[in-house]
Amino acid sequence: MRGNISPKYTSDFLAKAKKLSPSQKTITKFQAIVMFQRYESSGQIIYHGDATQILAQEIPSESIDLIFIDPPYNIGKQFANFTDKWASEADYLEWAYQWLDESIRVLKPNGTLYLMASTQAMPYFDLYLRKKLTILSRIVWHYDSSGVQAKKYFGSMYEPILHCVKNKQDYIFNGDAIKIEAKTGAKRKLIDYRKAIPTPYNSEKVPGNVWNFPRVRYRMAEYENHPSQKPESLLERIILASSNEGDLILDPFAGTFTTAAVGKRLGRRSISIESQEEYLKIGLRRVFEVDKTPVF
Ligand SMILES: C[S@@+](CC[C@H](N)C(=O)[O-])C[C@H]1O[C@@H](n2cnc3c(N)ncnc32)[C@H](O)[C@@H]1O
Repeated sequence: MRGNISPKYTSDFLAKAKKLSPSQKTITKFQAIVMFQRYESSGQIIYHGDATQILAQEIPSESIDLIFIDPPYNIGKQFANFTDKWASEADYLEWAYQWLDESIRVLKPNGTLYLMASTQAMPYFDLYLRKKLTILSRIVWHYDSSGVQAKKYFGSMYEPILHCVKNKQDYIFNGDAIKIEAKTGAKRKLIDYRKAIPTPYNSEKVPGNVWNFPRVRYRMAEYENHPSQKPESLLERIILASSNEGDLILDPFAGTFTTAAVGKRLGRRSISIESQEEYLKIGLRRVFEVDKTPVF
């Protein structure tokens, strides 16, 4: 497996993070030769280390309400010191099924799991997951293009997301919390004349499975220096739809910690895991609101 975990945590920033937050617990665990760190503050937990290992060793079975997984896609992106490329597709899937099985184990019986993947790998995940969970929706996150588009084939303008539950009779779906304006094509609101007093039709609806959210761009307020940051709008819809206030959300590949940042704003608790120290620093700032400026 690629993506070594740095055994050293000597940066001034981390020292400052520990000092600034008295309620924050920092635990260092030595496991054979691999180490991870845990930070906790007001219901938000951050792990710095390997997702599969931390899931297996730290997270109790059936303890998580909502899991959002946005893993490396095996398409050769560079995430700080981690190269997102496996020797073969089979190697990638073997690695992925480990954290996927762990995620299913830690999901509550009425919990929900969202999985993102590349368009190439998603068919494998779909076949794998439909044997273990109920796939309620196959979502397409469609975005506008930026930069050069493919000229000899149809360039990809979307990323697929699976929306899965453990029990299709018992799961959270807050449709009212995520309603959007229905596009009827009419310029004026349609009137329901069957009512005693004619009133405009309710023009709001639960969104379908094609979601339009712009990608995070350099000049946007939420932008962080990361090659695959997901927009807050995307996570807001997922979190509002599939969890309630006070619920516990898990993101095993946190990146810029969008899930935890949005979850915290919406009154949820969170567990985030990230292997790269560069992105851990983003998380400590974004989730714990520790100052970005290093101490000298
Ligand atoms: C696609 S990005 C996640 C982006 C995130 N959803 C966001 O909004 O910023 C995947 C992340 O997984 C991290 N990663 C790679 N291997 C990992 C591992 N074994 N354990 C934990 N994190 C890992 C990478 O450093 C990268 O930041």
